Amino acid sequence: MRILITGAFGQLGFALNDVLSDKFDVIRTGRVIPSGLKGIGLNIQDKIYLNEVIAATSPDLIINLAAMTDVDACERNPEIAKEVNIAGFQHICDSFKGKIIQLSTDYVFDGKNGPYKEDDPVCPISVYGKTKLASEKLIFEHSSDNLVIRGNVLYDDSSYTKASFLNWVVESLRNNQNIKVVNDQFNNPTWTRSMADIIELCIYKNVNGIIHWGDLDHVSRYDFAVMIAEKYSLKSSLIQPISTEELAQEADRPLQSGLITEKISKMLNVIPPSIDDCLSVIIEKNNQ
Ligand SMILES: NC(=O)c1ccc[n+]([C@@H]2O[C@H](COP(=O)([O-])OP(=O)(O)OC[C@H]3O[C@@H](n4cnc5c(N)ncnc54)[C@H](OP(=O)(O)O)[C@@H]3O)[C@@H](O)[C@H]2O)c1
Repeated sequence: MRILITGAFGQLGFALNDVLSDKFDVIRTGRVIPSGLKGIGLNIQDKIYLNEVIAATSPDLIINLAAMTDVDACERNPEIAKEVNIAGFQHICDSFKGKIIQLSTDYVFDGKNGPYKEDDPVCPISVYGKTKLASEKLIFEHSSDNLVIRGNVLYDDSSYTKASFLNWVVESLRNNQNIKVVNDQFNNPTWTRSMADIIELCIYKNVNGIIHWGDLDHVSRYDFAVMIAEKYSLKSSLIQPISTEELAQEADRPLQSGLITEKISKMLNVIPPSIDDCLSVIIEKNNQ
């Protein structure tokens, strides 16, 4: 099977390529290809070129990771967010007849009473959430066989990742810097490898519809930072809790959010890993 990934040089893209490239013919595309890596330059806003790439590569499946993911930048530039996250995704639907997997987010919910199940009512409170929800509607107009996987707070330790929460916490504490982390935004942080493994299983089992995937622990961002500090034997006292109101981010955030993964856990007979287990694997890998 040939799989074309858009946005393949982002945070999740690297983990997904690691998991899929042994078993499938993976075509990595990205707006910018990092030097030394192989891939096809592809901006999903360029419909004509997107058509050409799809025609030239004939994929069996497209996994769309390309998105404007900076939630505050989306709030500042709603038109650009719509162009990338909605119109860009529409181009993929228009150019490709086969199955599409789209990554979406818990930001489609308002965060009043999470964690959420797949059929809980959606009510996004940010431009980012609204654009991702719009893409969820488009995908099922294209085909009911398609799949939306909602994730939340993806993290990894890749040096390629522009805004890795894990790297930011570790680097700041190693440099003895104080950091402020919100203590009232709750989710279930998810290692990109865990998400990539689920995507692989969904491909094998040909899962369709909407599913939620997130790792085991439902914690605040502050709790997560403290867990990272303890696991890396760094000073957690440098982490100061701050409320969302005090932090005054540009876009509203769902506070009591996160994802219930029961549906896919039962369907695929899988258990989400704990943060502690994921961090242990990351640390062990880095020590090798
Ligand atoms: N990160 C999370 O916590 C999270 C949670 C839930 C869902 N998701 C979803 O998961 C997917 C992957 O997220 P991620 O964490 O890997 O984000 P990411 O690191 O920001 O990766 C997104 C990639 O999309 C690329 N991109 C942006 N605009 C594009 C365009 N017009 N054409 C082609 N590529 C474009 C970006 O390239 P540039 O670097 O050049 O901008 C980047 O490489 C996204 O759909 C996101 O909405 C993420």
